[in-house]
Amino acid sequence: MTMKNPTYEFSRAITRRPSASITEGLRATDIGTPDLDQMLRDHAHYVATLKSTGAEVIELDPLADYPDGVFVEDTALCLPQGAVLMRPGAPSRMGETVEMAPVLRACYDDMREISKGHADGGDILVTPREIFVGRSDRTDAMGIAELRAIVDPWGHKLTEVVTPNGVLHFKSDCSLLDGETILSTKRLEDSGCFDGYNVLNTAAGEDAAANTIRFNELVLMPAGFPKTATMLQENGYKVVEINNSECAKLDGGMSCLSLRF
Ligand code: GLY
Repeated sequence: MTMKNPTYEFSRAITRRPSASITEGLRATDIGTPDLDQMLRDHAHYVATLKSTGAEVIELDPLADYPDGVFVEDTALCLPQGAVLMRPGAPSRMGETVEMAPVLRACYDDMREISKGHADGGDILVTPREIFVGRSDRTDAMGIAELRAIVDPWGHKLTEVVTPNGVLHFKSDCSLLDGETILSTKRLEDSGCFDGYNVLNTAAGEDAAANTIRFNELVLMPAGFPKTATMLQENGYKVVEINNSECAKLDGGMSCLSLRF
């Protein structure tokens, strides 16, 4: 029997349907109000794509009090040994972890939590070798230290890196494609943080394509980045493009929409 690679072969995911309050979601720059109906259609396509790989998807109800609640990835880190509840760096998002806690408790025997500082799941990229954590406006030294103290005894090496200036999360600029390969913007790769990995770069002008997810046999990527999509296909990846126009208005992407384990 072949063992699953827990960094991209998953049997479950957690998602949360967007709420009508999504129009109040955080954004670095206002490029328009998200359209709820379009986002619901895109979200349904995303969930159906996860399910098409045979995975179970736990679909949570919208949270009107948390406009960014659809971006469940920021609330936790899911590892084979246990789950870690994050401590989101945006004050309006801190309560999202309280909502996620019982869901994860039902899935995991061991659930820990970051109790000091801040860390967002979007700043964390797990590879088979290490856990990269990007210091950012949302993830600080204290949050990273707490996370290190939790994952070290579980046998994970935590590597602190820097989320590029002006970029919301570390994973806004990169994704894991397989056990050895990372999709990265050129600006992030140039920092040297992925030395020793195979790195594929997003095409010029397509930085926003970097936030994809490898989920079982598929790579889910935002639609509208044809050069990067072709490059991934030419490298043997089975790509599914999902419209991301509405989440992009809130700096969100493919990874933000699920917890995967
Ligand atoms: N709108 C996603 C975030 O800022 O956390």
